[in-house]
Amino acid sequence: MMNAAFTRSYGPASVLEIRSLPVPTPGPREVLVRIEASAVTAGDLRVRAADFGPVMSLFGRLFLGIRAPRRPVQGTMFAGVVAAVGEEVERFTVGDPVFGSRPSGAWASYLTVPEDGSVALRPDGVTPTEAAAVPYGAGTAWTFLHDLAQVQPGERVLVLGGAGGVGRFAIQIARHLGAHVTAVGSARSLPLMRELGAQETLDYRASDFTTLGQTWDVVFDTADASSFTHSRPVLTAQGRYVTLYASVRVAAQMVANRWRRGPRALFGVSSGSREQSQILADLLASGAIRPVVDAAFPLERIVDAHQHAEAGGDGAVVVLPEAA
Ligand SMILES: NC(=O)c1ccc[n+]([C@@H]2O[C@H](COP(=O)([O-])OP(=O)(O)OC[C@H]3O[C@@H](n4cnc5c(N)ncnc54)[C@H](OP(=O)(O)O)[C@@H]3O)[C@@H](O)[C@H]2O)c1
Repeated sequence: MMNAAFTRSYGPASVLEIRSLPVPTPGPREVLVRIEASAVTAGDLRVRAADFGPVMSLFGRLFLGIRAPRRPVQGTMFAGVVAAVGEEVERFTVGDPVFGSRPSGAWASYLTVPEDGSVALRPDGVTPTEAAAVPYGAGTAWTFLHDLAQVQPGERVLVLGGAGGVGRFAIQIARHLGAHVTAVGSARSLPLMRELGAQETLDYRASDFTTLGQTWDVVFDTADASSFTHSRPVLTAQGRYVTLYASVRVAAQMVANRWRRGPRALFGVSSGSREQSQILADLLASGAIRPVVDAAFPLERIVDAHQHAEAGGDGAVVVLPEAA
C-alpha cells in the first residue's frame, strides 16, 4: 500500500485527504516510478476548485468528473526513481532517475507511466524537487513559444506574468530561442524576472505596455492581463498574441485571422510528450532553464501546500512523499 492525496470533491484545499491506496502495477510497456517530488501548479488548483473558466465550465466537469475528479488522485508533474518496469520496457531500467508528467496520480508515493509517455531521464545534478518544478511551466512555455508562436532569433517577446509558473520559464525559453525579452509582473517580481534573463521589466500596476511607444513580435499572455484587441496596436505586422486562456473571442479571432493579413491571435493546449520531455531534460542539462522553487511540503501536508500555492509566490510549490 502507499499514501496518496485523495480528492473527495471539487472545492477548497480541505477536500484533499491522505488515504492508503494500493501501489499501481505497471503494464507491459509501463514503468513504476517511486515519486520523490511532485508539483502543485496553478492548473492543479483550478481543477481542484472546478475553476474551468466560462467556456470550459460544462466541458471541464464532463471531461474530468461531474461532482469530483473521476481520477481522485490528482497531481500531474513528478520526479522520482524507476522502481519496476513492465516486461516489454526497453527505454528504462530499475533505479533510473526520471521526471515527467501524467494526466493524474502524481500526489502519491508511486505512479505508473507509459515508457513512451512524457518522461525522461533526470540530468545529473538536478534534484527531484527541482525536476518536479520543470515540466508544467517549461513544457507549456515551449509549446506556446516554440511550437505555436515559432519565436525566431532577434524577435521581441513580451511575457505578461513573467514571474508566474509559466512565465518564469517563458522568459528563459524565449531567451534560449534568441529573442529580446520584456517581462511584466508585480513590483516584487522585477528582480527575479531580470535574474531569469528578461532584458526589460515592467510593473503592471505602474505602466500599461501598450502606452510605451514600443512594439513586440510576440505578446505571451500567461496572466489573462490583455487581449488580442488590447495588444494589437503594439504588435508588429507579423505579430502574435498568444494566450493560455481559452475564450470564444480568441477562437473567433483565430478563425478570422486566417483570412486577413497582419497580427494574429493564438491559443493552444500543452499536453507534454516523450519528445518534449527530452527537450526539457536537454535544456535543464545545458543550463538554458532553471526552476525556481518557493516551498516544499511533505505529502501529508498537501492541504498546506495547496493553501501556500493559492496565496501566491514567485516559485513552484512541491510535495514530497515519504521515502518508501
Ligand atoms: N492552455 C494551457 O495548456 C495551459 C497550460 C498551463 C497553464 N495554463 C493556465 O494558465 C494560467 C497561468 O498559469 P501560471 O502557472 O503561470 O499562473 P501563476 O503562477 O498564478 O502566474 C500568474 C502571474 O501573473 C502575474 N500577474 C497578475 N496580474 C498581472 C497583470 N495584470 N499583468 C502581468 N502579470 C500579472 C501574477 O503576479 P502577482 O501574483 O504578483 O500579481 C503571477 O506572477 C493558469 O490558470 C493555468 O491553468 C494553461
